[in-house]
Amino acid sequence: MGPIQTYLAADHDRLDDLFRRATADPDHVDTDLYAQFRAGLLRHIGLEERILIPTSIRLRGGDAPAMAQRIRLDHGAITALMVPTPDKQIFATLRKILSLHNDLEEKEGGLYGACEKMVGEEALAIARQLQDAPAVPVVAHNDRPGVMDAVRRAVERAGYTMEG
Ligand SMILES: [Fe+2]
Ligand SMILES: [Fe+2]
Repeated sequence: MGPIQTYLAADHDRLDDLFRRATADPDHVDTDLYAQFRAGLLRHIGLEERILIPTSIRLRGGDAPAMAQRIRLDHGAITALMVPTPDKQIFATLRKILSLHNDLEEKEGGLYGACEKMVGEEALAIARQLQDAPAVPVVAHNDRPGVMDAVRRAVERAGYTMEG
């Protein structure tokens, strides 16, 4: 396992743990832990969208890794699910998508392995860049009318349905 995969897979584990602890009692969400999870997940997706995928494409000379399109649709769904104040339906949907999504990135021949191969000897430098990337600004939850419809559409565009 190369340095990019090592760092990003460990970040998945860290975020999974925050999510699990934040929602351990679904009737009393730990909002502080959930806020840490949300900020961390948005940063993580930013690392993949703004550093990992474009750098891999640049170093390879134009070809996106095969699963980049699928990964982007998942990111659209996950990011949309971060917008409203979360409820049980959002937790269940996130849990399902994240488990499939993380596997798609980490598995043999997945996004991380493919990028690691594409960037070759730059892998260590890119892993450092990922590690050093700052937190991203996080906006407050938005519960205006229409938000849940937009969330549902983003989830369905990525091939999933809202759970519960
Ligand atoms: Fe991702
Ligand atoms: Fe990831």
